[in-house]
Amino acid sequence: TGRKKIALIGSGMIGGTLAHLAAKKEMGDIVLFDIAEGMPQGKALDLSQCGPIEGFDAKITGTNDYADIAGADVVIVTAGVPRKPGMSRDDLLGINLSVMKAVGEGIKNNCPDAFVICITNPLDAMVWALREFSGLPHNKVVGMAGVLDSARFATFLAWEFDCSVKDVNAFVLGGHGDTMVPVKSYTTINGIPVDDYAKIKGVPASRLDEIVDRTRKGGGEIVGLLGNGSAYYAPATSAISMAEAYLGDQKRILPCASYVEGKYGLDGLYVGVPTVIGAGGTEEVVEIELSDEEKANLKVSTDAVEELLEACKGLDSSLA
Ligand code: APR
Repeated sequence: TGRKKIALIGSGMIGGTLAHLAAKKEMGDIVLFDIAEGMPQGKALDLSQCGPIEGFDAKITGTNDYADIAGADVVIVTAGVPRKPGMSRDDLLGINLSVMKAVGEGIKNNCPDAFVICITNPLDAMVWALREFSGLPHNKVVGMAGVLDSARFATFLAWEFDCSVKDVNAFVLGGHGDTMVPVKSYTTINGIPVDDYAKIKGVPASRLDEIVDRTRKGGGEIVGLLGNGSAYYAPATSAISMAEAYLGDQKRILPCASYVEGKYGLDGLYVGVPTVIGAGGTEEVVEIELSDEEKANLKVSTDAVEELLEACKGLDSSLA
């Protein structure tokens, strides 16, 4: 067919939500892959039966066989385990690293031309490992984190200012962890710098600091409330916006975990930076001016990512 093919590796909470969103938007035909037998097939049937009601023609299938992702245009990876209350994303490293190895090989053997978006945590390390295991070019493998983190930041700011979320342009840099760097100097309310708008609205600086802190811990807050599993609606919709930017050659500037070599003084690792996404995949990393404090915060965040990469290399000698 002339339709695009979207492969979802991992058909759990995020995978199922991704499939529903992609179908509703008729982004292409959808393959749900999982190691659990029957589950992706069941979700595919359930989701297919939304079609007559919602009026979409996407073909949705479930599989346990990597051969069925052959020729996929976009692959979105959520395979692995999510956090439980009290866990950090980093606690998932060992188990999800071995999952990335299997997934990377599945992609390499079946759809090496795909644009691959990784969501599995700890994100910055897993996207790096997935790229290594798959052997795809760096511009075709990217991690979803910044779109979600900046959406969390924007949500909290819109609540505080009692304004429309549409007018908030929130900016987040760095790793997808508690050391992420919400950048206030690039965050605006329809162009008005957030610090200026806080003064206009009588919001104290300490309140903005609390919002920055809540953003950093935004994933953990949801894990604690759910009690079983982690966030999935907003992570799914974030990844879909990245897939749309690629499929539509939109040249959007989105904060993504992209491969950075040279810029920001970094030497070959994946971390959250503003990235142009178009038909070429991650076409460009945009290097912005940072204050000394922001630079120092970014360093803390990238050091934490580097440490995880060392841990990955210790666990799997093929990465060293
Ligand atoms: N290959 C394919 N699928 C796998 C594999 C594997 N080797 N190992 C586990 N899975 C599947 C599980 O069977 C499960 O269906 O991955 C799915 C994960 O789904 P959930 O447990 O519902 O987790 P989800 O909330 O979707 O989050 C997935 O994204 O945000 C991150 O931290 C989160 O790492 C987690 C991932």
